[in-house]
Amino acid sequence: MISEPLKNPLSLFDVSGKSALITGASGALSRAVAISLASLGAKLTLAAGTQDELEQVAAECRTVGAAAGAEVQIINCRPNSLEDAEAMVNLAVESYGDLELMFIGSGYNKAGFIHEQSLEDWQSVMDANVRGNWLMAKAYGTYRINNKKKGGKVVMVSSVRGRHGNISGYTGYCSSKGATVMLTRVLATEWGQHQINVNSIAPTVFRSKLTAWMYDEDNELGQATKARSLSRLPLGRLGEPEDFVGIALYLLSPASDFCTGQIMYVDGGFSAG
Ligand SMILES: NC(=O)c1ccc[n+]([C@@H]2O[C@H](COP(=O)([O-])OP(=O)(O)OC[C@H]3O[C@@H](n4cnc5c(N)ncnc54)[C@H](OP(=O)(O)O)[C@@H]3O)[C@@H](O)[C@H]2O)c1
Repeated sequence: MISEPLKNPLSLFDVSGKSALITGASGALSRAVAISLASLGAKLTLAAGTQDELEQVAAECRTVGAAAGAEVQIINCRPNSLEDAEAMVNLAVESYGDLELMFIGSGYNKAGFIHEQSLEDWQSVMDANVRGNWLMAKAYGTYRINNKKKGGKVVMVSSVRGRHGNISGYTGYCSSKGATVMLTRVLATEWGQHQINVNSIAPTVFRSKLTAWMYDEDNELGQATKARSLSRLPLGRLGEPEDFVGIALYLLSPASDFCTGQIMYVDGGFSAG
């Protein structure tokens, strides 16, 4: 007797009809995830603070997802408070009857050397990357656990900077991404009994708004930071949003049902050596 996943392995990646919430949907990595899920017929709730960019991504999702039966709605919101996080989760549940998948792609960096950086700037990075993830996880987990929903998938974005330091003024960013690693592991252990998988993707430098300063030829620190990353990348290039999609789809689909608490490095080999 040959089981269904062995006969039809692509069915492991089936996310059609799944309700998925994506934060930071105006951003490069979330946009790539959103468009891919739409192409596969998911029901999307896209959240971000920048309305025009959010609408543009939603329009792209509707275009590519129409044939697959995708549904797309937006909410102009960042995870600044528990009320914000709950509003996003509630909208997904009210519109689609459930919320199964969550990709937390909102995030931020404000680099600064510690002897020059204000506490407020450091805190703003921790708030976006740690507090925001915690709030989203709390709203999602509260919904699923209180409603006795079995299963679910949460994907956060850490970074190679959650494992490696950086001399470019990253006390906030590296610390926040290290905290994301532990948030992932703790939630995975706490929620295993509810069959909720929690994993993180840890990219190296990918082209996005966040890293635009590294692609700016007039930005000396940016150029040096990019060159240093590149010099350590066995695959010899930086990431493009398309490089992110395969691992995101794996972690959001049944293909990863037995994978939880993991930090998946999508980094061109940066962390290998
Ligand atoms: N690109 C990389 O090289 C790289 C590497 C490692 C990890 N990451 C992580 O990947 C995630 C996605 O980043 P990305 O590269 O796609 O960057 P991005 O293009 O800048 O997208 C991030 C999104 O997060 C939202 N955001 C910005 N500041 C925020 C804040 N203070 N609080 C809440 N949301 C905020 C923005 O949406 P609105 O302004 O519309 O709300 C933005 O569109 C982040 O967690 C980032 O740290 C990226």
